[in-house]
Order: sequence, then structure tokens, then C-alpha cells
Amino acid sequence: MHSIIIFASGRGSNARAIIDHFKTTGQARVSLIVSNKTDAGVLDIAKDEHIPFLIIDRETIKGTLLLEQLAAYNPSLIVLAGFLWKIPASLVAAYPNRIVNIHPALLPNYGGKGMYGHHVHNAVLANKERESGITIHYVNEVYDSGDIITQARCRIEENDTADTLANKIHQLEHFFYPRSIEYLLNHE
Ligand code: GAR
Repeated sequence: MHSIIIFASGRGSNARAIIDHFKTTGQARVSLIVSNKTDAGVLDIAKDEHIPFLIIDRETIKGTLLLEQLAAYNPSLIVLAGFLWKIPASLVAAYPNRIVNIHPALLPNYGGKGMYGHHVHNAVLANKERESGITIHYVNEVYDSGDIITQARCRIEENDTADTLANKIHQLEHFFYPRSIEYLLNHE
């Protein structure tokens, strides 16, 4: 069975979707959750699901100890699910083409440092875009610029707000992220 490690900073709805998907298929399991926030909602999910978790800080994310800790779980993929720090070069080099991220917009637009959550949706709405979507991509040393694996789109209506757009985006994410991960596991 494949092992997946999830990195997350927030409430963890994508982590939840991935955990549930692979509980159903039995093809993989989330073996570790890594977070930079001690009060992240994703840690409650880890506790509920009896998944080990690790809290990292700005120093430990760059260190060899973390590499050793991750290697102990022998991950097929490292999955960023709302993880807001840049992944250091040491980690990218240790898992070439095996770290993936989801971004709540159609990259290469609306990406880069500081572009996360509602910052993205507000910028999309301010530009009067008629559509937005999600991008699932490989992670390299530069924010939101690794090769794109897949994108999915949604329409933006006149009355959409950052909240309603975020809901549409989350629906796309929860459907496409687990399935894209499954595809990658089957085609490595
Ligand atoms: C997701 O919408 C994800 O695309 C976004 O954070 C949210 C996390 O939600 N990631 C970024 O903005 C990365 N730049 P979740 O904690 O409920 O999964």
C-alpha cells in the first residue's frame, strides 16, 4: 500500500477528502501529517484518524532530521494541502517530482508568495474574471511554478463573493485532488 504524507497549515478539508478517498479505495494511506501550526484544524483530523503528526518550524523544515523523519514513512508522494510555507530546496531535491501542491486558482495567474485562500479569490474577483479554478502541480523551489498536472475550472457569477467562490473551489479540490493523487500513484 502506498504511503502519503500530507503537509497542511489550515483546517484540512483537503486532507479530510484525501484520507476518506483512500480509506475507500484501500490503495494508499495517509501515514503522517506535517503542520507548521500547533492550532491547525488538520491536527484534529490527524487525532481523530489516529494518524501521527509532526509540528515543524522555520528551522526544522530545512534540516536533515525532518528528511530522516519523512523517510521513515517511505512516502510515494508528499502532498501539500493548504500548506503555506515555501518548500526548501533540500526537501524538493529529496523527493523529485514526488511533491505536489494544490492552488486555488488557474496558475500561472494569481500565484506566488502571499497568494493563498481569500487573497487569491479577492484578487480574482477584483479583476472581474469570468472563471476561476484549481491547479494541481509539482512543487519546485519557486512558489506555484512547478509543472502543472491538471486544472479544473468553475464559472464566476455576478453575485459571487470570496466566500461563495471559495466554496466552489473547495468542491473542485475535494473531487479532483484525491483522484489526481490516485492517478499519479498508478503512473509513477
Ligand atoms: C485550499 O483551498 C488550497 O487550495 C489553498 O488553501 C486551502 C486549504 O484549505 N492553498 C493555497 O492557497 C496555497 N497557495 P483546507 O485547509 O480546507 O484544505
